[in-house]
Amino acid sequence: MRMYDIIQKKQNGFSLNEDELCYFVRGVTDGTIPDYQSAALLMAIFFRGMTAEETVTLTECMADSGERADLTSIKGKKVDKHSTGGVGDKTSLIIAPMVAACDMGVYVAKMSGCGLGHTGGTIDKLESIPGVNTVRQRDEFIRIVNEIGVCIIGQSNSFAPADKRLYALRDVTATVNCIPLIASSIMSKKLAAGSDCFVLDVKCGSGAFVKTLKEATELAELMVKIGTGAGKKTIALITNMDVPLGRNVGNSLEIIEAVSVLDGKGDKDLTDICITLAANMLYAANAADYEECVQAVTETIYNGKAKKKLAEMVSSLGGKSEYIYNLSLFGESKVTALLAAEKSGYIYEINTEQVGIAAAVLGAGRSTKESKIDYKAGITFHHTVGDYINEGEALASIYTSSIGKAQNGMELLFQAVKINDTPPKPKKLIYKTIGGRQ
Ligand code: URA
Repeated sequence: MRMYDIIQKKQNGFSLNEDELCYFVRGVTDGTIPDYQSAALLMAIFFRGMTAEETVTLTECMADSGERADLTSIKGKKVDKHSTGGVGDKTSLIIAPMVAACDMGVYVAKMSGCGLGHTGGTIDKLESIPGVNTVRQRDEFIRIVNEIGVCIIGQSNSFAPADKRLYALRDVTATVNCIPLIASSIMSKKLAAGSDCFVLDVKCGSGAFVKTLKEATELAELMVKIGTGAGKKTIALITNMDVPLGRNVGNSLEIIEAVSVLDGKGDKDLTDICITLAANMLYAANAADYEECVQAVTETIYNGKAKKKLAEMVSSLGGKSEYIYNLSLFGESKVTALLAAEKSGYIYEINTEQVGIAAAVLGAGRSTKESKIDYKAGITFHHTVGDYINEGEALASIYTSSIGKAQNGMELLFQAVKINDTPPKPKKLIYKTIGGRQ
């Protein structure tokens, strides 16, 4: 088999068979295929697409390119959740403890990533709590899940190594935004991580990788097909990312907001989406009827059990759990500034990708892989899309470490917000559910 022929076949619009796709993935993994040929095939896939069958095969080959986790020593059903990436998306930190706190025999053994581009990452948020270390050996990870029902650690490099190499190439060849490549990238890591069932939060809108409902539906259907085809119950929810999720964007700010949801005092949309995702996790694991799952996860907020679970998880990861009970310990950033409304009117639009970039500029994200994050940096919105605001009223607060960063972040945030005389059409929070209860 020659890589040249595989590239040419895809370039001419034909489907690749299992032998060809596995040859490609093996060569990427062991380094025998040079980057220029891999990049050429990625570009051919970008323009010619892949059938669902090709994507399923590519995903399985990528999942087999490294270790597959054996979670059989964790008692009960294991459920994993994945978001395709958004701004202000702190749901994993809320719903993983909620599911574990239900005590319904469903365990959350989750691997998460760091921030990517304008989107934040669960691991950075978790590590904003002093002492937390998310780099853990497999045995310790399994012990924590068995003891408290939940653990979130960093993505292991030994799972789906082909994806790591391909993602790095896609990142520099403008081939990230390709539905079969996104689906195979995400699902290969999920399959390798070994849970029994998956809930996928496919973000759609200005702050997401996929901007339209049509693309989001295509991606969600493909990922459900891959998961189901691998014998794992898979549910995808398509959710609104045309506005940051909740009020806070930034690492410790998002921990503070996650705790406020677990205290029953959180933003309504964020709380609603967390209840729906957590209920779907229990439902995917066959724990009960959907309505009972909703009731069970909601109770964990009001009986305080989910917050206690979060504190236990933080403590198992070496973190100071007192931060969960006393949020003032997170302290204040060096520089705080207010963005005031330039005129009276309705907040018509908040360009969410731009908000993610502004948060990164303030210090909440990395500009290079090596950059250090300022955990206290970020943005708090005092108003959101659809609200009426008066000229001069505080729209958002920004937190950072220098006047220069504050000026740059403020400028980006100012450009991201549009105020109009008429209110915008309300948008749904959850557009669709695929593979679950309709
Ligand atoms: N997240 C991933 O893991 N892979 C993609 O291709 C896009 C988002």
